[in-house]
Amino acid sequence: MGKEVFYITTPLYYVNDVPHVGHAYSTVGADVLARYKRAQGREVFFLTGTDEHGQKVAKAAKERGFESPKALADQVVQRYQELWSLLGISHDRFIRTTDEDHKRCAEKFWRTVAANGYIEKRSYTGWYCVHEETFWPENQLHQPGNLCPDCDRPTQSTSEENYFFKQTAFAQAMREHLAAEPGFVQPESRRNEILGSYLNLEGGVQDQSISRGTVKWGIPVPDDPGQVIYVWFDALINYITAAGWESDPERFKKVWPADVHVIGKDILRFHAVLWPAMLMAAGIPVPKKVFGTGFIVNDGKKMSKSLGNVVDPVDWAGRFGVEVLRYYILREVPFGHDGSVSEEGIQGRYNTELANDIGNLLSRTLGMIEKYCEGKVPEPQAGTSDPLRAEAEKLWPAYAAAMDALAFHEAIESILVLSRRANKYVDDSAPWKMAKDPSRSAELGNCLYTLAESLRLIAFCLSPFMPKTSGQMLAKLGLGEAEIDAKGRLATSPLEAACRFGALKPGTPVTKGEALFPRSEAATV
Ligand code: ME8
Ligand code: MG
Repeated sequence: MGKEVFYITTPLYYVNDVPHVGHAYSTVGADVLARYKRAQGREVFFLTGTDEHGQKVAKAAKERGFESPKALADQVVQRYQELWSLLGISHDRFIRTTDEDHKRCAEKFWRTVAANGYIEKRSYTGWYCVHEETFWPENQLHQPGNLCPDCDRPTQSTSEENYFFKQTAFAQAMREHLAAEPGFVQPESRRNEILGSYLNLEGGVQDQSISRGTVKWGIPVPDDPGQVIYVWFDALINYITAAGWESDPERFKKVWPADVHVIGKDILRFHAVLWPAMLMAAGIPVPKKVFGTGFIVNDGKKMSKSLGNVVDPVDWAGRFGVEVLRYYILREVPFGHDGSVSEEGIQGRYNTELANDIGNLLSRTLGMIEKYCEGKVPEPQAGTSDPLRAEAEKLWPAYAAAMDALAFHEAIESILVLSRRANKYVDDSAPWKMAKDPSRSAELGNCLYTLAESLRLIAFCLSPFMPKTSGQMLAKLGLGEAEIDAKGRLATSPLEAACRFGALKPGTPVTKGEALFPRSEAATV
């Protein structure tokens, strides 16, 4: 029997600074998948949270005059939690690496790996990048200046006695796993990156220092409190803490292994190499999938606070709408690829895709049902072949394939394809002409039924992306707000069944009401 719960995670974000739209991107993507799986009838465990230990956070706290790193963490965590609440993120737990159950889990994990013989004390000389919280061997530094190969910041020479994780012991097993499970690292480009650069025998995988003697802000090493656990070793363990590995073994069996860790490509090697090796060393199954997104870039550079090129998601949510922001970032930047976002871009997609393709289709369809059918969904015509119906029946297979592959931009495209065809169908079939000819009333009914039913499917498929908007669409179509709950579960699940053409009952009262995406209210650039 397979495990019961679909388990999805976001990265645990550092609390050295407040969130920007890049953090919103990975979290909204994970949220869309969580809502989709719930709509499909799966029990979902969706985890997000914060990474609070380590030098980066300690340094930021000191520079900004906080009395302790925890005091900074407490403040920044609130900003994350407020943002997730604003953006409608449906996580089931928000974990902090300073949580007590996480400390207990990290200790147990350390002891387990040590007892299995994969932790060893060694004296060590190397180079550390605080910004990336990463050790680098000298031959990988950018010269001159001993710079971090990832972010080009100066590294610190460190020479200390600390604990090592014998990661090399798992290099062969990892290679075999990658070869046997093409779905383990996705998308394909990321998998090739891992296969090519990190798992080659020379220089790829090295034993990893997993404690720091000179750093104070962290979880103490069990039985050696002069050292703290390296922040990445600590943070990765959170994924099993939240699943109950230490606290609730029965639940752990239902939740683990994780179905997908959604992360950015910057932290791929930690998730695709270090993390599975850690799990193998503890005798725990590895996650099913690590999905590495690309970056939201600005002027060709990764959006990041230190480059001063960030978009504040709270600002954009206020100006363009929370759900418009959710929709736009996933529509604009294909999951797994880099892409840029802009005010012109969000405005443009609002007008063409949301207001026109979807919003206008809804208004004109419901307007005609009000005008020609007394506001009630008319009868379809049995036994006729309808070109729009054929298109509507293609939506689910295209949409589901894209959603299952986390190709959210393609899932949205499948919705827009149907919307555009439906608009064209209105233009081509000219229901207003049919309405003038009593002998065409069955034809008119069929046309408007097919349009209303297409809109119902569009609303359901849009629900993981725009939950409230989708609820409003369904309400206008005479289907109660209770169709989909706050976490994305359906009254009549699975989503696949809800998306079968023909479920809309003739006679259902509809209301055109206000436009879904009013043009005038769209903020102007
Ligand atoms: O790396 N575009 O935390 P972090 C797209 N604490 N995604 C972006 C982005 C951008 N411009 N900027 C950030 C850490 N992200 C560790 C993780 S996990 C056990 C520990 C997203 O605060 C992207 O998902 O630096 C990236 O991997 C993550 O935020 C890094 O967040
Ligand atoms: Mg980072």
